[in-house]
Amino acid sequence: MIGSFPMLNAAEAAAMIENGQTVGFSGFTPAGAPKAIPMALAERAIAEHQAGREFQIGVLTGASTGPSLDGALSKARAIKFRTPYQTNEDLRDRINSGQTRFFDLHLSLMPQVTRYGFLGPVDVAVVEVADITAGGGLVLTSGVGVSPTFCNMAKTVIVELNRYHPPEILGLHDIYEPADPPHRMQIPIYKPSDRIGSPIIRVDPHKIVGIVETNLPDEARGFSKVSPLTEAIGNNVAEFLAHQLVEGMIPKPFLPIQSGVGDIANSVMGAMGRHKGIPPFEMYTEVLQDSVIDLLEQGHVTFASSCSFTVTPDVLKRVYDNLRFFRPRVLLRPQEISNSPEVVRRLGLISINTAIEVDIFGNVNSTHVMGRKLMNGIGGSGDFTRNAYLSVFTTPSTAKGGKISTIVPLVSHVDHSEHSVQIIASEYGVADLRGKSPFERANEIIDKCAHPEYRELLRGYLHIVEGGHTPHTLSAAFKMHEQFQRTGDMHGCTWAVQTPALV
Ligand code: COA
Repeated sequence: MIGSFPMLNAAEAAAMIENGQTVGFSGFTPAGAPKAIPMALAERAIAEHQAGREFQIGVLTGASTGPSLDGALSKARAIKFRTPYQTNEDLRDRINSGQTRFFDLHLSLMPQVTRYGFLGPVDVAVVEVADITAGGGLVLTSGVGVSPTFCNMAKTVIVELNRYHPPEILGLHDIYEPADPPHRMQIPIYKPSDRIGSPIIRVDPHKIVGIVETNLPDEARGFSKVSPLTEAIGNNVAEFLAHQLVEGMIPKPFLPIQSGVGDIANSVMGAMGRHKGIPPFEMYTEVLQDSVIDLLEQGHVTFASSCSFTVTPDVLKRVYDNLRFFRPRVLLRPQEISNSPEVVRRLGLISINTAIEVDIFGNVNSTHVMGRKLMNGIGGSGDFTRNAYLSVFTTPSTAKGGKISTIVPLVSHVDHSEHSVQIIASEYGVADLRGKSPFERANEIIDKCAHPEYRELLRGYLHIVEGGHTPHTLSAAFKMHEQFQRTGDMHGCTWAVQTPALV
């Protein structure tokens, strides 16, 4: 017993979850996601299926999770419905083959749509914690996500007490849930370091049905080494932002940065830290990756507000070994606060996210390969892009060894429209779309960002267009995509119109 809460093993906890229930899991990315209970749940699902019984649940989370949660449950065919974001290969395949229903959602909206009841009732919350008080006060671990809302909404709460995270991290979190309309007030954050809530989640102790003790590291993936390509994109972004500061387009001393996930984002942050023209800055973002921890230690980042530490285990250990340094420099918040459109617009963030493809008019596809296959989901990119002071998208100019141009006449799926996207950066340069007509934007993107091998082809599209404010030819707009689907290579696409045979 801890307080009045019974200790359970993972299998006993998993046995408390019924077929068809909806479960809200803690964490944001693999950071803070429970591990032992979902793995036991996967084993339970396999046993139930072998016995000829149905066993599938709805899985609600903050964002992606790790192999022990999405991976194990997906492989066990235990996920009926999933929202709001995922990065797991097995789950992605099941979503794309229609075996798991997936709802792609702006991450800032997840807590409120849960409270509004749009996703149905939350039956059980499974929450990883570093510590629990006798009265049901939960100290979260490396990610916050939707945990406060899941704990409030769920009928029962099962706690995974993970001893890997020291109880001394109390104070790193700032838990705040806004009231719902028509009673919502402003979120009183005026600078990234403003603390507005509580360091713990307070849960009705009667709802906590048991505690499972574990000692398991987070499952965050490492990064590939910085490549010449990611380095070139990072340097282009850093150089552009430094120049904007000199020109007075970014107010002094600088504005807070939001940076997305992945190798390019990691490179951009590294390049910003190295650039002599970029002064120390603050971050207001949803994930802190390894590079940001380096920048905090070096003094290039002076404060970081985030929803999680999505860092490798060695780097997390560095944080935990030096809490005296990190505690005054970092806050972890629920995702409706870390990604709040209201706060993003008030603070004037510079948002930097990565695209799958971009069209010559500035629309961005972040989620669907060839318009059809889900990659991960929109994540927080829409929360930040739509509301940023300056919204930047990075993309390598090509994908799949040069066979795909990431700059196309028309994106095959739209996540961020031309009305929200201001800057595109590839390894070749930076296109500034602000104040430009669609035709001017097209020339800017082709000249500055497209791969030289595709520039003539893209310019050719502008010569066959049928005019209009946004000059398109609908019959040709997806010809580069079609060429790839037919031949496995966008090279060879032509704009020649097939004249129907005369009869
Ligand atoms: N057509 C087809 N495939 C493409 C493509 C294109 N235009 N562009 C990229 N890809 C493929 C890559 O080849 C790679 O495939 P692989 O896994 O088979 O090698 C895959 O997409 C991922 O691309 P990669 O270059 O490794 O990029 P990444 O890890 O930086 O991820 C996104 C890029 C867009 C998928 C990722 O940033 C994302 O999911 N974004 C949406 C969420 C988000 O922006 N969150 C930010 C807030 S923190």
